[in-house]
Amino acid sequence: MPAHLPQTPGLDTDRMHVLHVVGARPNFMKVAPVYRALATREVSQTLVHTGQHYDANMSEVFFQQLGIPQPDENLAVGSGTHAQQTAAIMAHFEPVVVQSHPDTVLVYGDVNSTVAAALVCAKLGVSVAHVEAGLRSFDRTMPEEVNRLVTDQLSDLLFTPSEDANQNLLQEGIASEKIDLVGNVMIDTLVRLLPEAIQARPFDLPQPYGLLTLHRPSNVDDPATLQPVLSTLLEFTREIDILFPVHPRTRQRLQQCGFNQAGSKLRLLDPLPYLEFLGLQHSALFVVTDSGGIQEETTFLGVPCLTVRENTERPVTVSCGTNIVVGRDMNRLAAEIRRILAGQPKPGKKPDLWDGMAGERIADSLLMRYRPALAVSAS
Ligand code: UD1
Repeated sequence: MPAHLPQTPGLDTDRMHVLHVVGARPNFMKVAPVYRALATREVSQTLVHTGQHYDANMSEVFFQQLGIPQPDENLAVGSGTHAQQTAAIMAHFEPVVVQSHPDTVLVYGDVNSTVAAALVCAKLGVSVAHVEAGLRSFDRTMPEEVNRLVTDQLSDLLFTPSEDANQNLLQEGIASEKIDLVGNVMIDTLVRLLPEAIQARPFDLPQPYGLLTLHRPSNVDDPATLQPVLSTLLEFTREIDILFPVHPRTRQRLQQCGFNQAGSKLRLLDPLPYLEFLGLQHSALFVVTDSGGIQEETTFLGVPCLTVRENTERPVTVSCGTNIVVGRDMNRLAAEIRRILAGQPKPGKKPDLWDGMAGERIADSLLMRYRPALAVSAS
């Protein structure tokens, strides 16, 4: 076992005990394949939901569709400022870790639940492993970038989705023995559920259509930023339907600024479950988004993606995939949509290790580190 990892509480031949922490919508697609892979290896698992997302259509429906068991603990922290939410997760999570004595705690992605749980573990001397480590936008105005930087510094084991993530971690002085390039866990879920998602598409979809999602505070909180994006897309609804599942944060902002799209083909929808949304991505002519995960899913699906942000922490979706970061330049956004409508989208291919097996590689890696005797006897 590498020297930097704390000694495991169990004997080498005891079952390994892994505690997973999830809290917000994008975490659920990431925990599902890791949980499944560990379940086939007879590992004890505890699942903790922080309650950062709590609406049924932001949380429960994902557990059902992704086949994730009910959480063993729900900390029910709810919404708040960053400090309130992070502090509440820490205060509620600490006794759970103390009582359950896991060999390691797995945290996912870059939400407030991720950094809060990592901080609790680091202070308690409990081993923590970060799934989707090493991504960097180099933009510290993004709350997620702060969460990523801090979580990676605190983690004992860093599971990365792509080579650029390894390079970022090495440049930040993280020891190479802690870093394990395993591929993209979110793509594991996509690979498993795409056939079902295609079946889940509504029959009455307009053809063709574009898909829009916006939820970053930097895009939606200020009407001066939100309005130009919506006006640009509204222009195109003379030629094409645009479906817009609206995040709760965005819905509040649209109500506050009195946005009215009535009579246009910009169709506002409630947040969609995983399968329905994946089905819509699969058949869309293009996707306009500020989400991180959607940049990856469209790259895998080969669907053109226009990212309304100044940067991306997932550069492989640009260098290899179908993603174009258009920034907040609305002329650029319009020009790229016109190119797609003219039948000339940017081509792309799938990045390495986006093969549906990342969860399996994580499970093997954890067993090798925490129960090498069991890992060897299983192989
Ligand atoms: C969070 C993550 C973001 C991720 C996004 C995915 C952080 C810092 N941000 O942003 O990285 O991309 O989730 O959705 O962790 N709300 C509801 N119902 C819910 C949850 C939230 O109505 O179930 C409303 C509340 O008014 C809340 C607001 O949405 O204040 C924002 O929720 P929050 O969890 O703070 O951040 P997100 O914008 O969802």
